[in-house]
Amino acid sequence: MSQNARERFLEKLRTSLAGETFVKLTLSRRRNSGDLRNVYARIVDLKAGRAVSLTLRYARRDETRNITPDETPAQIGSMLADVFEEAHLFTTTGDWKLKAQPDGEGLLKAARPTFTAALSTAHDRPKERAVANAPFLTKLGVTNADGTARAGMSDKLRQVERFVEILGHLVVESPLRDAKRVQVCDMGAGKGYLTFATHDYFQKRGATAEVTGVEQREDLVAHTNEIARELNCDGLRFVRGTIGDYALPEKLDALIALHACDTATDDALAAGVRAGAELIVVAPCCHKEVRAQLSPPPALAGVLRHGILAERQAELLTDGLRALALESVGYEAKVFEFISNDHTGKNVMISAIKRGTPNPEKSQSLRAAMEHFGITEQRLVKSLG
Ligand SMILES: C[S@@+](CC[C@H](N)C(=O)[O-])C[C@H]1O[C@@H](n2cnc3c(N)ncnc32)[C@H](O)[C@@H]1O
Repeated sequence: MSQNARERFLEKLRTSLAGETFVKLTLSRRRNSGDLRNVYARIVDLKAGRAVSLTLRYARRDETRNITPDETPAQIGSMLADVFEEAHLFTTTGDWKLKAQPDGEGLLKAARPTFTAALSTAHDRPKERAVANAPFLTKLGVTNADGTARAGMSDKLRQVERFVEILGHLVVESPLRDAKRVQVCDMGAGKGYLTFATHDYFQKRGATAEVTGVEQREDLVAHTNEIARELNCDGLRFVRGTIGDYALPEKLDALIALHACDTATDDALAAGVRAGAELIVVAPCCHKEVRAQLSPPPALAGVLRHGILAERQAELLTDGLRALALESVGYEAKVFEFISNDHTGKNVMISAIKRGTPNPEKSQSLRAAMEHFGITEQRLVKSLG
């Protein structure tokens, strides 16, 4: 008797595991209602030997099970019969996509291999993949159901991954490291990529996260709230408001503002300082305020007569002044590359962790830099007095 589509798929799976061409497998599209959303399989090398690690993704948690390669086809087969309609097998020799009914009848399609080498089999994945395959990424249109980036969204996926990686390092360095409950605000949340990522990150750390995305566009607020509801993201909400006027809670733990225009970044930083945020993370956008005032000393006039160089100087200066202003009021500030220049020109990030001791030397340094370049006003400096 000829094999049905599911049996042929399981045969491909068995062969790839035996021949070590297996890369990964995804089960998606459940046929009936239930909490289990997806299953992801990959190879891991454990002390006890090689295993297949299954990540069972439920609406609000992940569960991991390690099984032997021999057990894998039968277990995947039974999940396909009982729960999932689709499966995607990636091997180094070809990809296989199955769409089948409970009885196994359906379609099996072959495609060229997406991966030509097996993935790392280390038990602990690199940290920057911590966000991969998160349901919110699929809902926001960043990834396909199998966790791969959708067409045109690979830069966005990298950006979200890098952000979560950086956030992880900063949280560990900050007093939020042991927090069981965190109150976070994302100013200028836009489509919510980083707001969802922040909520997801704190939840995965085991903290109860109250995350608010503040956004001026009503349509975006409605859309992101809808997705948060669909995904049952407890504690995540989006509100319509402007960065300058939004009333932050009295005690805020972390403030985020990525790519808020010009002085909106300063307003977000100032609001975070006023609300006593332990951690502040911003990625500035344009730098018009300082650019308009830039009046370099005579020795630099010849260098900065070129528009592009004056613009870059204004960027350097603005972000440097912001860091000094934060340090003046007791934060430890860092300015560093967010994401490589290949992906966006807006690649600087400023982080600030509250250490509590105002630093008069930094205030002096700030004043000297402003005088040197003829800057009479900078929004954050003014706001922080
Ligand atoms: C470039 S997007 C960045 C979105 C998100 N932070 C990110 O990095 O993916 C900037 C967003 O900030 C919003 N925005 C700009 N100025 C704002 C303000 N003053 N108050 C609230 N939202 C603002 C815009 O509507 C837009 O959705």
